[in-house]
Amino acid sequence: MTVAILLGAPGAGKGTQAPLLAASLGVPVLASGDLLRGEVASGSDIGREVDAIMRSGELVPDALMARLFLARLDRSDAAAGAILDGFPRTRPQAEALDHALAASGRRVDRALLIEVPIEDLIGRFAGRLICKAGGHVYNEWFKPPRAWGVCDVDGSELVHRADDAEATVRARMEQQLGPLHDVADYYRGQGILIPVDGTRSIDEVAASLLAAVRAPPAPAR
Ligand code: AP5
Ligand code: MG
Repeated sequence: MTVAILLGAPGAGKGTQAPLLAASLGVPVLASGDLLRGEVASGSDIGREVDAIMRSGELVPDALMARLFLARLDRSDAAAGAILDGFPRTRPQAEALDHALAASGRRVDRALLIEVPIEDLIGRFAGRLICKAGGHVYNEWFKPPRAWGVCDVDGSELVHRADDAEATVRARMEQQLGPLHDVADYYRGQGILIPVDGTRSIDEVAASLLAAVRAPPAPAR
């Protein structure tokens, strides 16, 4: 059983790497951003609330986010492990996650921090495309789809994300890097944080993440 968290700044490659790692380990990906975008697409009350927050570049309030995400974590497909992309994003979320996992005899095994300097990230957003059906991630320059505008995996349409506009990207960086450092410190304190160089090719980063997950477990805490 493996519960691994992917941490990293906006654009670091969490959504690109999560499905690769999940396929290698045979566990599902639970992605907070995809959950939220699903709510927005459904037109639910929660969707209307979080749409404005996401477009502003701020984080969704902890209580709402924890309720949504921990309900997803409770579903049976995650019983044997999962790759978490985008949750936790704050220290209170990390504590809520530990609490929820402990209640079902699980724990976070690894927190993998994908490190990319901000100046390298900015160029990734303008070219990013995601698919409407499954949130699969592409890039016009760095990871183009096989057929223009169509997802390789499920054939759905590729679109730009509403929060990838330049001003929102700047706000996301300003709002979210502080909490990211808090969460990284939290897992560093538990002895389970593993930093990985995210500036290399997608395949090289994937190989490092898999090796990090398969490294001998940290001593009991
Ligand atoms: P979320 O969807 O999680 O966005 P994010 O954290 O800002 O991260 P991104 O999805 O932008 O980047 P990524 O690291 O997944 O990079 P990707 O693989 O796409 O969250 C969206 C919003 O929801 C937040 O702003 C917040 O409002 C809210 N939210 C979500 N979770 C929350 C929480 N827990 N609490 C509160 N609020 C929350 O890669 C980026 C691009 O780079 C792609 O085009 C990709 O093809 C390319 N790329 C990837 N790797 C490489 C590489 N090695 N070389 C070159 N290009 C690469
Ligand atoms: Mg993502």
